[in-house]
Amino acid sequence: MIYLDNAASTPVDEKVIEEMLPYFREQFGNPSSIHRHGRIANTAIQNARKRIAELINANSNEILLTSGGTESNNTVIYGIASQSKGKHIITSSIEHDAILEPCRLLEKKGYRISFLPVDKYGFVNPEDLKKEISDDTCLITIMYANNEVGTIQPIKEIARIARESNIFFHTDAVQAVGKTPVDVKELGIDLLSISSHKINGPKGVGALYIRNGVKISPLMLGGGQENGLRSGTENVASIVGFGMACKLAKDNINHNTTHFKKLTTRLISRVLSEIPLTTLNGHTDTRIPNNTHFTFLGVSGEDLIIKLDENKISASTGSACSVKIQKASHVLKAMGFSHEQVTGSLRLTVGITNTEQEIDETVDVLKKVVQELRSVSPYKSKYNF
Ligand SMILES: Cc1ncc(COP(=O)(O)O)c(C=O)c1O
Repeated sequence: MIYLDNAASTPVDEKVIEEMLPYFREQFGNPSSIHRHGRIANTAIQNARKRIAELINANSNEILLTSGGTESNNTVIYGIASQSKGKHIITSSIEHDAILEPCRLLEKKGYRISFLPVDKYGFVNPEDLKKEISDDTCLITIMYANNEVGTIQPIKEIARIARESNIFFHTDAVQAVGKTPVDVKELGIDLLSISSHKINGPKGVGALYIRNGVKISPLMLGGGQENGLRSGTENVASIVGFGMACKLAKDNINHNTTHFKKLTTRLISRVLSEIPLTTLNGHTDTRIPNNTHFTFLGVSGEDLIIKLDENKISASTGSACSVKIQKASHVLKAMGFSHEQVTGSLRLTVGITNTEQEIDETVDVLKKVVQELRSVSPYKSKYNF
């Protein structure tokens, strides 16, 4: 089995599992309890919080533990909107649905939402952002790196524009953290979303960085955990695992990014030189190092995934969430792709466990299956396959 869908989820690191196990067994206490069992669980959470903060150069008290990227994003949209007088939010047209859907709901409730366009590489233009800012703008939320094509936005510049206009800036960094160094202080970010399962931690846990001084309302009310910002008994084992995943991501960032780059460079160069009528989508350089995204003209990306799966290779057309409901990628459409280009797209994302041999095997299989699919393609005569 070759797994090349690390943007959808990653295998949990053995060291992470080891770290989690005691919190299912002997250390099962409720972190809110006063007794020893409770205190041990609480200390474990605070240690994990510190590790999460260190990965992005934040303070521990700026980390809100959540159930993942989706909850972190929703918390920002509703939590900032309900605190602010302004009724205008600026975002981009290529965000994950965990940003777009809450924005659309607020739109129905009378908020104005600006969905910034992107160019053919997937970049937001900071000049477009400046033009959209109004006295009513309460939040700017632009993703750090896109989950389909991997494009990294000019985050520092966007954060500067937001700061100069006194508007909170949030970035969904779910695909960026662990793939490129992220320093919230250096970048001037107010709020940032992270997800554990994208960095070899367990699923169903994540964090929202909230810069000290930013006021936000909770989504969930109850026992007042997480400083009243997220009630509910904490998922101790998963939080501990997430903490360990962050420590490993920080300790190994240079090694991991070099490894990702080596694999994707090989993959891109072999695919583009050995499979005709193929393009790399997104920007050549300004992309997260573990992402590749191609269009193979004349084939359907979904057929390609099925064929790859028959050959024991796991790949994707784009966002895992969209695939199940079979909708065409809003990201590629926003980048100006034709229907045919959108249909023929395939995302291959590498992780820490992939090898060069796996990349070579994948390219060999890809060559074969693309040829097979093209031989029965309705575009056969158009491209002379
Ligand atoms: C950019 C981005 N944001 C948010 C999410 C949602 O994160 P989670 O799966 O932790 O809810 C994802 C997951 O694919 C993502 O890629």
